[in-house]
Parts: sequence; C-alpha cells; structure tokens
Amino acid sequence: MTDRFSLAGRVALVTGASRGLGFAMAEALAEHGATVILNARDEASLAEAARKLKADHLAFDVADPKQCSAALARIASKHGKLDILVNNAGIQHRRPLTEWEDQDFDRVVAVNLSACFRLARDSARLMLPNKYGRIINTGSVAAILGRPTIHAYAAAKAGLHGLTRSMAAEIGRHGVTVNAIAPGYFATELNTALLEDKAFTAWVESRTPAGRWAKPHELGGAVVFLASEAASYVNGHVLAVDGGLSVSL
Ligand SMILES: NC(=O)c1ccc[n+]([C@@H]2O[C@H](COP(=O)([O-])OP(=O)(O)OC[C@H]3O[C@@H](n4cnc5c(N)ncnc54)[C@H](OP(=O)(O)O)[C@@H]3O)[C@@H](O)[C@H]2O)c1
Repeated sequence: MTDRFSLAGRVALVTGASRGLGFAMAEALAEHGATVILNARDEASLAEAARKLKADHLAFDVADPKQCSAALARIASKHGKLDILVNNAGIQHRRPLTEWEDQDFDRVVAVNLSACFRLARDSARLMLPNKYGRIINTGSVAAILGRPTIHAYAAAKAGLHGLTRSMAAEIGRHGVTVNAIAPGYFATELNTALLEDKAFTAWVESRTPAGRWAKPHELGGAVVFLASEAASYVNGHVLAVDGGLSVSL
C-alpha cells in the first residue's frame, strides 16, 4: 500500500524554524521524507538547527517583502518548485490595552499576519502551475478565545484564520490546499514569561483537559497530515492542537 503520509520528493519551507514549534514541525516533515528549508532571522542559531536536521536553511526576515521574494526566487531556482509552505514565524507582545503603542501593534501584525499573506501569495504563484501545494498557517487558540493584553496577537491570528479560509475557497480547485493549525499552550521560548509564572502554569494545567503544557513535538502529526496526500480533501480547516482547551469551559 502507498504511504499516504509520505512526503518523499516534496520541498517544504518552514518559517520561524530555528527553535520551538517551527523546528518541531520541520523535524516532523523531514522525518517523513520532505526536503526542508528552515527559515529564521538569526543566521547562527538557524544554521545550527538546520545542521541538526541535515536540512537546508535561508535566513531572512518574513516582515521584509524584498527578503521574502528573494528567498522564494532562490528556492525556485535551487529546487525548481515549492510544495509546502508552513507560515509559522510569529512574535508576541503583552501590555494592558491603554499602554499599547501603535508601532507595537503594527509590528506584531506585520510578522504574524501580513508576512503570511505575502509568503502564501508568492508561494501560490509557484504551486498553482504544478497543480499541487500545501499552505499551512500557524494560527492560535488566541484567535478563537479572548485573553487580556495580547491584542495585536489575537487580531493577527484571527485574521490569519480568516485568510486561511479565503485562500482555501479560491485556490482549492487547483490542487492547492490552505489550512491552519491552532496550537494551545506549548512550552517554547515565546512563552518563557508564562512558563516561569507558577500561578499561570497551574491555570494552564487546570484549564486544559489534557492537564498540562504541550511539548513542541506534539504538533508534528498535525503538520505531516496536512502536508501529505492523506489530507487531499481537507481545505480551509483550522485544526486545534490544544489538548481540548478550546472546546471546554
Ligand atoms: N508556543 C505556543 O504556545 C504557541 C501557541 C499558539 C501559537 N503559537 C504560534 O506558533 C508559532 C511559533 O511559536 P513558538 O512558540 O515556536 O515561538 P518561538 O519559540 O519564539 O520561535 C519563533 C521563531 O520565529 C523566528 N522569527 C521571529 N520573528 C521572525 C521574523 N520576523 N522573520 C523570520 N523568523 C522570525 C524566530 O527566530 P529569530 O528570532 O532568529 O528570527 C524563531 O525561530 C508562532 O506563530 C506563534 O504565534 C505558539
């Protein structure tokens, strides 16, 4: 029987992949046979991450349109195609509402939403002629349920869930699917402040049906599924990987 989860022969770009969820998803895609290109800004930590996976890497800032188009042009010329885009790079900023500065809101939206739109559009230009593609956006449970202080993040991730659906509706008939993964609370550097807060950790453990923080590798199955032939009819879906958080009170 053919392995419908095999990614052999597929070329994948994972943004924000030098650590955390991006690294874990890149590792899972590579384990299933994909040729993976890791992205982040810091060249040294990115090269080290790529070395661990024996993967390729391209350092660029996803918020810079010129760097993004140069990176995709490089992928097209080196690999001849792009099959899988994982739009994962993301940042957080926490402040009480009245203390937010405009530039912080714009900075979070630029990385967490506008960059995803641009990379998805430019990737679709490479995918559509081949009639095959998988665009996977890292959304968040924070797009589904409200939390204080993370206003730009919540707005950007909700926008990303919407963008996932609009793109899916438009390009699905050309063999390109667009889906999102909405992680719950994962123990990564993004959440250092929360992980160090004992009261917050106790809240995560009591609030999440799984009773604990998630480990980054627990996102691997979801991204491999959405990237594979097995998910050929899954389009425009937001897959929560949150231990049941978003379906419980
Ligand atoms: N951890 C969670 O519980 C959780 C929950 C829901 C959703 N998410 C989402 O999952 C994604 C990954 O989160 P994480 O927890 O793994 O974060 P993380 O540990 O802070 O890692 C973020 C990654 O993104 C890169 N990055 C940041 N800004 C970038 C930019 N402008 N251009 C290119 N790369 C950039 C970072 O490397 P450089 O700094 O070197 O660029 C790093 O590789 C984010 O979209 C986040 O919103 C996380």
